[in-house]
Amino acid sequence: MMNILITGGAGFIGSHTYVVLQENGYNPIIVDNFSNSSEKVITNLETICGKPVTYVKADVNDPATYDQLFTTYQIDGIIHFAASKAVGESVANPLKYYRNNVASTVLLLEKMQQYGVNNLVFSSSCTVYGQPDELPVTENSPVQEAVSPYGNTKQICEEIIRDTVQANATLKAISLRYFNPIGSHKSALIGELPLGPPANLIPFLTQSVAGLRGPLQVWGTDYPTADGTAIRDYIHVMDLAHAHVKALSHVLGRNNTAYYDFFNIGTGEGSSVYQVIQAFEKATHKKVAYEVRDRRPGDITAVYAATEKSNNILGWKAEISLEEALKDAWAWQEALL
Ligand code: NAD
Ligand code: WQD
Repeated sequence: MMNILITGGAGFIGSHTYVVLQENGYNPIIVDNFSNSSEKVITNLETICGKPVTYVKADVNDPATYDQLFTTYQIDGIIHFAASKAVGESVANPLKYYRNNVASTVLLLEKMQQYGVNNLVFSSSCTVYGQPDELPVTENSPVQEAVSPYGNTKQICEEIIRDTVQANATLKAISLRYFNPIGSHKSALIGELPLGPPANLIPFLTQSVAGLRGPLQVWGTDYPTADGTAIRDYIHVMDLAHAHVKALSHVLGRNNTAYYDFFNIGTGEGSSVYQVIQAFEKATHKKVAYEVRDRRPGDITAVYAATEKSNNILGWKAEISLEEALKDAWAWQEALL
C-alpha cells in the first residue's frame, strides 16, 4: 500500500481527496497546522472511512516537519494542498501569501530531493489564466499577469516546480488548475468550513439561505454575458478529489524520468451567477433572496475549462451536475446549523 502525504489534508479539498485516496487503496497521511480547518475534520474522516486517520499537526513551513515525516514514513507521493487562498487577504498581506504558498513549496521540493521522494501533485488554480481571450480555456492559453498576490503565488509555484523538474532527473510532477470547487461529501460530515466570512459565492449563498447573513449580493449584472452576471465553471469537490487520484496514479505509473505537466480540472460548463441561483432553487426548493451590487474589483467576466487534456491523458471527467453539487452544498450547510 502506497503512503501518500497530503499537505493541508484537513482542508476543504484535501479532506475529500483523503476519502477518495482511501477508497482507491492508498494510505494517505495528513499534515496540517489547522490554520484554516478544524481537528474535528479528522474525527469525521474516521467516521466516513471507518478507520483511524494518520495525521501530524505541523507547519509545512518548518523544515523539521518534513524531517519528522520523511524519517517516520516511507512516502511514495505527495499532494500539496497547504496554502492560504483568500484573494482579498493576499492583497492586504502579500508577504503572508509569498511565505505560506511559495516558500512552503520551495521547502517541500528541497525536502523531496533530500529524502528521494519523486512524485508530486500540486494545487494550482484557473486564476492563472486571468480573463482568457478564448473560451473554453485550454492549457495552451497563455498564463496572464496575476490580478492578486494569491494568483501570483500559484503561477510562481507552477514555474518553480517546472524548473525543478527540468533540473532533476527523477522528479515527476503535475499541476492541477482547479476551477470553482463546490459541494460536499454525501455524508455532509466534511465540506467547506466557514471559518470567518466566506470569500466565495456558494458559502455566501448557503449562509444567506440559512439566515446566517442578509440577502446574497450579486456582484455585477452588467457583464457582457447572456444575463449580465459573471460566468464560472463550478465543479463538485468529489469530482475534484477523483481528479487528484487520477493525477497521482498517472505520476506514479510513469517511469522514473523527469516529467512535468499541468491540467485543467473543471466540468467544461460555464454557469452564470443567476444560473447558479436558479439551479440552487430547483435543487433545494429553497428561495434565494438577493440584491444586485456593483462588480467586485478584479473579477473577470467568464472562465470555464476545456477538459480534453485531462479527459484523454488522466482518464478523468467530471460527472456530478451543478444541481447535485448545490444540493450537497445545502446539505452541508444544514448539517452545520
Ligand atoms: P483550505 O483552506 O480549506 O485548505 C488548506 C489547508 O491547508 C487548511 O486545512 C489549512 O489549515 C492548511 N494549511 C495552510 N497553511 C498551512 C501550513 N503552513 N502548514 C500546514 N497546513 C497549512 O483550502 P482548499 O479550498 O482546500 O484549497 C486547497 C488548495 O487548493 C490550496 O492550495 C488552494 O490555493 C487551492 N485552490 C483552491 C480553490 C478553491 O476555490 N477552494 C480553487 C483553486 C485552487
Ligand atoms: C464566483 C462568482 C463573483 C460572491 C475565487 C478565486 C480563485 C479560486 C476560486 C482559489 C464571481 C460572484 C461571489 C458573492 C457574487 N480560489 N459572487 N456574490 O472569484 O471565481 O474565484 O475562488 O484558488 O482563485 O479567485 O469565485 O466564488 O468568489 O465568485 O456575485 O457574494 O460569484 O463575482 O462572479 P471566483 P467566487
